[in-house]
Formats: sequence, C-alpha cells, structure tokens
Amino acid sequence: MCFKQSQMNSSEWDLEEVNTVKTVTSVKEMRAVSERWRRNGKTIALVPTLGALHEGHLELVRKARAACDRVVVSIFVNPKQFGPNEDFEKYPRDLKRDARLCAAEKVDVIFAPTPEDMYPAGFDTTVVVNPKLTGTLCGQSRPGHFHGVATVVAKLFIFIRPHQAFFGHKDYQQTQVVKRMATDLNTGVEIIVVPTVREADGLAKSSRNTYLSEEERRMAPAVYQALKLAEVMLQVGERNPKEIVEAVRKRLRAEPKLDVEYVCTKNADTLEDLNILSGRVLVAVAVKIGVTRLIDNIVVDVPTGS
Ligand code: PAJ
Repeated sequence: MCFKQSQMNSSEWDLEEVNTVKTVTSVKEMRAVSERWRRNGKTIALVPTLGALHEGHLELVRKARAACDRVVVSIFVNPKQFGPNEDFEKYPRDLKRDARLCAAEKVDVIFAPTPEDMYPAGFDTTVVVNPKLTGTLCGQSRPGHFHGVATVVAKLFIFIRPHQAFFGHKDYQQTQVVKRMATDLNTGVEIIVVPTVREADGLAKSSRNTYLSEEERRMAPAVYQALKLAEVMLQVGERNPKEIVEAVRKRLRAEPKLDVEYVCTKNADTLEDLNILSGRVLVAVAVKIGVTRLIDNIVVDVPTGS
C-alpha cells in the first residue's frame, strides 16, 4: 500500500518538508524514524546508494515506492569499499541534485550520514562473506571491496530495519554477496534485484560514465554488444566457456582504448566456474577505458542437458 504525503499527519512531517525530502544525517535519528514507522505498522523499503543518482538508481527507487509504505534512500560514499588507488576522493557528490530527484520520486527520507557517524572512532568490525563469493570477479582486483560493501549494508539493515532492500542487477556480484549476508545474519530483509537500466546504445547507466571522454563514450557500448554476442552463442547451443570468453574478448579487442580486466562465465547462483555451460549462466565483464573502470553482466537461462 502506498501512503501519500498529503495523508501524513503534521506530527510526522514539518510543513516545509512536504515538497522536498526529509534528510537525516545521524544514525540515532534514522533509527528513531524507522522505529516509529515500524510501531505504526508501516513497511519500509531501503535503497542503498553512493549518490550521484541516475536513472538506474531511480528505477530502484520506483520499485521501492511501489512496494512499501516508506522509502529510505541512503546516500553515503562509503570509504570502506574503495581501495587505496581508487576514486573515493573524486567520486561525484551532489546532495542537492540527489535530493531534488528523490523528491520527484516521493522518497520519504534521505539518509546521508557523515563518515564519522557511520564509523565512529574505534570502529573495528568487518563483515566478511565467504571468498567464494567475494574473492572472484571484481573481488580479485578490488580486495576488500565486498567486505566494505557487506559491512556498510549490514549496518544499514541493523538500524533502519527495512522489510525490503533494492539492488541493481548491474552489480550482480554485489547482489549475491548481500543476499548471503542478509540470510546468514538473520536480518529478515528481503533483497529485491532490479534489472539493469541502460542508455539507448546499451551502455549500463553508471555514475562513473561521467568520467568518460567523448571518444571513450563511443567505445563503451562494446561491452554490452560483447555480452549480447555471448547470449546469442548460448542461445544457439554453445556450451564451451572458453569459446564464449574468447568471442567476447575478441569483440572487446576491436576497441583500441579498451583494456579487459576480466571476461568470465560462472554459475549465476554460486559464482563457481562451469566446465559445461548450463542452468543459470552469468557472463560478466570488467574493462578499463582510459582511467574509467566499467562492469556489466547478463544472466542467461541455459536449458540443462541441451
Ligand atoms: P551505487 O553504485 O551508488 O549503486 C546503488 C545501487 O544502484 C546498486 O544496487 C546498483 O546495482 C544500482 N545501480 C547502479 N546502476 C544501475 C543500473 N544501470 N541499473 C540498475 N541498477 C543500478 O552499489 C553501490 O552504490 C554501493 O556498493 C552500495 C550498495 C550503496 C553500498 O555502499
């Protein structure tokens, strides 16, 4: 059920907040808001983000809005998931713009904490999901990345206590890591995975696309084209992972400035390698175009024994 802002009573909302979004910056206040919602029998959806919102994020927000009475979008550039040579400092930040976009989607609360509030002095706990899920694919070049993700998402689940949390298929490995963590820690949070939102030419929407020069942007759709090639090969009966990986690499090699980090086929549920492709098959790619790292993936249902 959707609870419209016009129906809210004034004890819950200040009048000037009706056309904008209430922004909460402290963990303590966020917990209090959520507890009040729970007491009033409201269902809560959480959309965790790093901010710099785009259509991909907004699709998650729309799904959340349709599913629950209250929607929280967290905006936090989480230092614990960035490696020492990654783009933490230059990651795009524009809270005002993000707030306008959230207001247009009728988000109830933006949770935008400071790093000091999320990680107070002395903070010394890390949520580590099995390396079978966190050490492969992006985990190989980004050691510790998924520990940082699992830690921050677990914290958000603990003090926001959402009924559902929304994640994008674009970061497929992240969805698997978060599902494992959410189940193993008995969070009671249902993880909803939303299909990847793409530009007209197939490039997956990403905050990092803004780093691409014009020339690099022209090359970027090759990633999705290579994945579509893999999909067609699987559909017409190719079952040898090496053939698929080689065909995808060949397509990517056609772009001069594109460096392949990995091209992998995996069992989409366990992220384990497959000798013969069958069942739910993940085809995942990571590339660098200039200084920008892009990832994308597809999951193809391959009939077993075909
Ligand atoms: P961020 O990169 O901001 O992404 C937030 C959510 O939006 C993720 O679930 C991501 O998969 C989803 N998303 C991004 N681009 C998308 C697209 N083109 N289509 C559909 N969904 C898309 O992922 C993170 O932040 C962080 O790791 C986070 C989960 C917030 C933990 O810090």
